[in-house]
Amino acid sequence: MPGQKPIKVALLGCGTVGTEVVRLLTDHAADLTARVGAPVELAGIAVRRPNKHREVPAELLTTDAQALVSSPDVDVVVEVIGGIEPTRTLLLDALRSGKSVVTANKALLAEHSGELFEAADSTGADLYFEAAVAGAIPLIRPLRESLAGDRITRVMGIVNGTTNFILSGMDSTGASYAETLEEATRLGYAEADPTADVDGFDAASKAAILASLAFHTRVTAADVHREGIAQVSAADIAAAKGLGRTVKLLAICERVTENGSESVSVRVHPAMIPRTHPLAGVNGAFNAVFVEADAAGEMMFYGKGAGGAPTASAVLGDLVAVARNRVVSGRGPRESAYAALPVRPMGQTPTRYHISLDVADRPGVLSQVAAVFAEHDVSIAAVRQEGRVDDASLVIVTHAATDAALRSTVDKIGGLPVVREVVSVMRVEGEET
Ligand code: NDP
Ligand code: HSE
Repeated sequence: MPGQKPIKVALLGCGTVGTEVVRLLTDHAADLTARVGAPVELAGIAVRRPNKHREVPAELLTTDAQALVSSPDVDVVVEVIGGIEPTRTLLLDALRSGKSVVTANKALLAEHSGELFEAADSTGADLYFEAAVAGAIPLIRPLRESLAGDRITRVMGIVNGTTNFILSGMDSTGASYAETLEEATRLGYAEADPTADVDGFDAASKAAILASLAFHTRVTAADVHREGIAQVSAADIAAAKGLGRTVKLLAICERVTENGSESVSVRVHPAMIPRTHPLAGVNGAFNAVFVEADAAGEMMFYGKGAGGAPTASAVLGDLVAVARNRVVSGRGPRESAYAALPVRPMGQTPTRYHISLDVADRPGVLSQVAAVFAEHDVSIAAVRQEGRVDDASLVIVTHAATDAALRSTVDKIGGLPVVREVVSVMRVEGEET
């Protein structure tokens, strides 16, 4: 390696993740040189407010990200700024000039990966993004490379730590969503503006990336059916507990085969899963993703989905990979979107519902409720009734039916005079249909 030309890195952003990228690059410099086969050196660090960054060498800092990306010295651009612009323009410029790109930016990839991959193809540059989904957890590389010879049928995971922290808290304390969000904010798990997390935008971006890789199909955030956790009530959590289940915000990417043709369903929503399911034991801010493939069977990937150091670990892994490729004048995997499967609308997606009702306790009530299910061609899997004085709690779990049929069923049941209240409606996942 002596005399080997260094791989020069432009770091865009030096916040939570970028600071840790600098630390790992500095602390592990000798090991990284040995692993790559050439020294890996910072050419510059682009930030907005250089005066704030006393922890990094001042001579590396710049506010001109465009000039840094365009510098002929730079081989690899690592982007940890976030958001759509200026990152989209910066990364397109980098790729079109033959520079490899490593990014943690799920929002950008979920909207513009097609354009970015085309730019990479135009020069043969690498585009790596392990940190964009589930932080430190190796998941992108297994989907993109290790499982490339298999047929993935389902990817289902907890990919947002903030919402998992809130739902786990509600499950363990019985507190309301609002109280638990307040606690998560106080402890620093939820951001001051938690919208991207609690409304499911962050998980939807990650679901789009996972579905694209799993099914060799371009899926964007706009294709993902998205529901957040703000409507999850203490009653929903209690109902789930009563049935041996827990509530999780799930990102679900499924291959659906119907009448010999295939489509994909990509969705993010809260769902009840059995407490015995491997994802049920994933608590606090941890992430986990369950993958099913024809030949490999079931696999689970678990670990820290966020935080400066865990995310920087994934960024550094990608940096080593693209740097190694440059040393041997090689290239990593390109986009694989050849299958181009259609994305199924949520209304046509088969799901299962758990419905909890307060009803009048008198003869004929159950048959009126059951008739509405029959009318919508929704099959009931289980019914549990507990009588009180003059009313009863009725819990119904369905078999799989289209989401549209299930929604219409619930709407009509809510209007029956014998139904006093629809207490809880939640999808059920992770068990046989
Ligand atoms: P931060 O907000 O902590 O840091 C962003 C950095 O970008 C700051 O250093 C900021 O500069 C810099 N910046 C912002 N705008 C510009 C610009 N126009 N030009 C140059 N620099 C700019 O973000 P994070 O480190 O938390 O996240 C970075 C990326 O990593 C995002 O895409 C995020 O989704 C992703 N990610 C983050 C995880 C996490 O746990 N934080 C987990 C997984 C992925 P300054 O400091 O001067 O303001
Ligand atoms: N905000 C995200 C989460 C972390 O709560 O999991 C970055 O993906």
